[in-house]
Amino acid sequence: MTMQESKVRVAVIGVGNCASSFVQGVEFYKGARDDAEVPGLMHVNLGGYHTRDIEFSAAFDVVAGKVGLDLSAAIWAHPNNTTRFAEVLEMGVPVQRGMTHDGIGKYLDKVVKKAPGPTDNIV
Ligand SMILES: NC(=O)c1ccc[n+]([C@@H]2O[C@H](COP(=O)([O-])OP(=O)(O)OC[C@H]3O[C@@H](n4cnc5c(N)ncnc54)[C@H](O)[C@@H]3O)[C@@H](O)[C@H]2O)c1
Repeated sequence: MTMQESKVRVAVIGVGNCASSFVQGVEFYKGARDDAEVPGLMHVNLGGYHTRDIEFSAAFDVVAGKVGLDLSAAIWAHPNNTTRFAEVLEMGVPVQRGMTHDGIGKYLDKVVKKAPGPTDNIV
């Protein structure tokens, strides 16, 4: 297993079901062979970067119950319902309060509460 020294640093904006699959997938496939067939991925190794070289550096959301949690916990928070297929250990990546912009979508608005407080200083 070769290790790439440089990482692909990723900030997640919206810790929903796609993000849950993504975070779990990086954990689940960290030991995949370069030539393995992984559903949803064209290549396990792209230009020398393996999926395990993805490093989550920041995360943002706008709903109560996700903001303030570690990313590893927020991926399981209501109303996410992605299948659990990997155990994700504490990542040291707190979900910060993102900017709500034009509001929460009309369907999501019925099932979540906006997180209190102002937008975190992202820069
Ligand atoms: N699920 C799929 O199969 C799929 C496929 C293709 C594309 N998409 C697209 O990907 C995106 C995410 O899909 P999903 O299924 O994870 O949705 P989701 O509703 O599970 O997650 C969206 C997340 O974004 C958060 N959010 C809403 N407004 C925000 C803001 N202003 N700042 C930060 N976070 C905010 C929500 O609180 C929620 O946690 C959507 O745009 C969707 O259309 C989804």
